[in-house]
Amino acid sequence: DKGGYKHFMSKEIAEQPRVLTEVIGYYLSDDATRINLPENGFDFKTIDRLTMVACGTAFYACLTAKYWFEQIAGMPVEVDIASEFRYREPPITERTAALFVSQSGETADTLAALRYCEGKADSILSVVNVPTSSIARESNLALPIMAGPEIGVASTKAFTCQLTVLYLMALKAAHDKGRLSDTELADRLSELRSLPSAVNAALALDKSLAHAGLKLSEAQDVLFLGRGLMYPLALEGALKLKEISYIHAEAYASGELKHGPIALIDKSMPVVVKAPRDALFEKTVSNMQEVMARDGKVILITDAAGAAEAGDEAWITIVMPTAPAALTPILYAIPAQLLAYHTAVAKGTDVDQPRNLAKSVTVE
Ligand code: F6R
Repeated sequence: DKGGYKHFMSKEIAEQPRVLTEVIGYYLSDDATRINLPENGFDFKTIDRLTMVACGTAFYACLTAKYWFEQIAGMPVEVDIASEFRYREPPITERTAALFVSQSGETADTLAALRYCEGKADSILSVVNVPTSSIARESNLALPIMAGPEIGVASTKAFTCQLTVLYLMALKAAHDKGRLSDTELADRLSELRSLPSAVNAALALDKSLAHAGLKLSEAQDVLFLGRGLMYPLALEGALKLKEISYIHAEAYASGELKHGPIALIDKSMPVVVKAPRDALFEKTVSNMQEVMARDGKVILITDAAGAAEAGDEAWITIVMPTAPAALTPILYAIPAQLLAYHTAVAKGTDVDQPRNLAKSVTVE
C-alpha cells in the first residue's frame, strides 16, 4: 500500500522522521541519557579494531561510520565491500569486532564475508532491518534498524536508520572506552533526538529539489563532490541517481577533483556539492569555484551560513536546516534521495522497480 503516495520510494522517504524517532527510542534508556542494546548487550572496552563489511548503500553507511568511530571513539576502522573482502583472505587480528550492515540480511556476499569472520573475529555484529534474516541469525549480536519493510528497490529509510544505529554504536564505543563522559553522551543523545524534526524540515524542501531534479534530468553525466562526512554521502547520491534515473553519475572526494575528474568539467556537467558550513567548508568553496571557473553548473546543498558565504554564483542553491556536524550525513541524505527521485520522475523511469535491479541480491 503506497498510502496515497505515487511511489513506494516517496512514501519511504516521507516516513523517515517517524522511523528515525522509533529507532532512536528503541536504543535509548527511559531517561534518554544512555544507550541500551538488545540481548546481552556488547562492550567495546576490549575491542581495539572494527572491520565493517557491506554492499552498495549499506557500504556507504559503513564508510560514514568510519569517520564517527575514528573521531569519536578513536578506534581504527577498516571498511570493505563484501565481494572484495570475502576473497581477499584479510587477516583478522585479535580484539577485532566484525560488523556487517545489510537491509535485507540476505545479501550473498555479505553473508559469505560474515562466515569468513566466524571463529576469527572476537565478535560478529550486524545492523539489519530483517531480524529473522540469515545475517541477523548468524551474528553474536544483531542490531535492528526498525525501518519497517522497504519496498522501493532504491534504499532510502533503511540507509538513514542504518546511519543512526551506527552513530549510536560509535557513541557507545566512545563511552565504553571512557572517551565520552556520561554528560557528553547524554548531550549527544539529546542532539540526536532533535534530528527527526530537522529531517522533517529537510523534507519540506521537496519543491526546490523537484525543480533541481527537472534540470538534472536533462544531463548525461553528473558529478557529486563531498569532503569528510559528505564524501560517503556524495557516493550515495551518485548511486541513487544512476539506479533510478539511469543518468551516469560519479562521486569524488572534493580534494580529488584536481587529480583527474576536473578534466570532465564543462557547461554540460552539473556538479552536486553537499557542504554544510563546517570546518571544511572553505576548502569545498574553493573546489566549487574551480568548477564554476570551467563553466560547470553547481548545485550547492548547504545551510544558511554556507549559502551566505558561498554567495549566489551557484546554478542552484538548496538551503538546508542546520544540525550538529556529526549528524549532517543523516540529514543530507534527504536531499540526495529527493534529488534522485525527482530526476527519475522527470525522466519517467520506473522509480520503484528500476531496470536490471533486485531488492535483495542473494546470488553473487
Ligand atoms: C541501493 C541499494 C543497494 C543495497 C545493496 C545491499 O539503493 O539498495 O545498493 O544497499 O544491494 O543490500 P542489503 O542492504 O540488503 O545487504
